[in-house]
Amino acid sequence: MSLDNLPTEAQQAQLLQAARDAQTRAYAPYSQFHVGAAVLDEQGRIHAGCNVENAAYPQGLCAEAGALSAMVLAGGTRARALAVVGSGTALVTPCGGCRQKLREFASPDTPVLVADPQQLRARFTLAQLLPESFGPEHLKP
Ligand code: THU
Repeated sequence: MSLDNLPTEAQQAQLLQAARDAQTRAYAPYSQFHVGAAVLDEQGRIHAGCNVENAAYPQGLCAEAGALSAMVLAGGTRARALAVVGSGTALVTPCGGCRQKLREFASPDTPVLVADPQQLRARFTLAQLLPESFGPEHLKP
């Protein structure tokens, strides 16, 4: 059973466009790998993020982390869907750390849309990307 309503087609299209726009703002002078992400919150609002690298390489921030941070800052409490946009032949799915970050605010059936600047390429649920995951409910007595 899901805690969250699934997004409409129109919301998914808006989410993808926000992630595409965010990709154009990426700061990735070291990898040259530009990523955009966008998250749909429980109020129907969209929050975007891009990757922000750093000369001290491990300090770089993923696009998904930026989008989730923007959601929290705006008062959002649930991620109803996430879109990620990257370029290249391989699918740009969220990294392991970002899957866990999404897990904090999402449900097993939360859609994760994976796209390039031209098209939607794949659709996963969070449970497919992060099976048997650990989350906030595990900390409850
Ligand atoms: N990156 C993201 O922002 N999101 C992903 O889903 C995959 C990787 C970033 C991190 C780094 O700035 C660059 O892409 C290359 O790994």
